[in-house]
Amino acid sequence: MDLALAVELISPELAETLCRAITADLPEYFGLPECNEHYAKGVRSRTNFAAKFEDAYVGILSLDFPYPENGNIYWMGVARSHHSKGIGTALLAKAAEHVKSQGGKTISVETLSPAESDENYLKTYRFYETRGFLPLFDLKPVGYTFTMVYMCKVL
Ligand SMILES: CC(C)(COP(=O)(O)OP(=O)(O)OC[C@H]1O[C@@H](n2cnc3c(N)ncnc32)[C@H](O)[C@@H]1OP(=O)(O)O)[C@@H](O)C(=O)NCCC(=O)NCCS
Repeated sequence: MDLALAVELISPELAETLCRAITADLPEYFGLPECNEHYAKGVRSRTNFAAKFEDAYVGILSLDFPYPENGNIYWMGVARSHHSKGIGTALLAKAAEHVKSQGGKTISVETLSPAESDENYLKTYRFYETRGFLPLFDLKPVGYTFTMVYMCKVL
């Protein structure tokens, strides 16, 4: 890992602040205001890791445990100016380490399905895929605007 990059556990307050800031920075990914509000408040009750690069917080991964043996990525984002610098990969590694330390065996994520053919989320999908997440199934939950894909990685 880059010496200027650190991943640390953060407080619920900081998690909400960072979630809101990164959401505002990436409108093409986070364009549904009600959803954004839901997640900004939701991160407060999850376990949150932030990536600090040269003393600035630039990314966050929010994790929960829907079942004891699975850690689920509840929310994740990296500030635009820091994409493709290994920060998302470092956040995933920290999350995986934490899940394993809690006795977890898998890590999962819900993201926009490739079936939606969104050029931005196709990059997100490939990011998870190349980091070992396997697609399980597509689903459009009640109340959702888009079809989602559910992915899982065995740790
Ligand atoms: C997806 C995301 C978390 C990855 O973080 P990152 O710090 O850019 O990722 P890394 O630098 O560790 O890895 C770079 C890889 O991610 C891919 N990638 C995915 N989305 C990308 C984006 N928006 N910009 C640049 N690269 C992206 C690159 O193609 C690269 O792939 P490769 O290394 O296999 O060539 C980040 O790009 C992001 O915040 N995207 C927008 C929000 C989002 O999709 N959140 C997840 C919702 S489930």
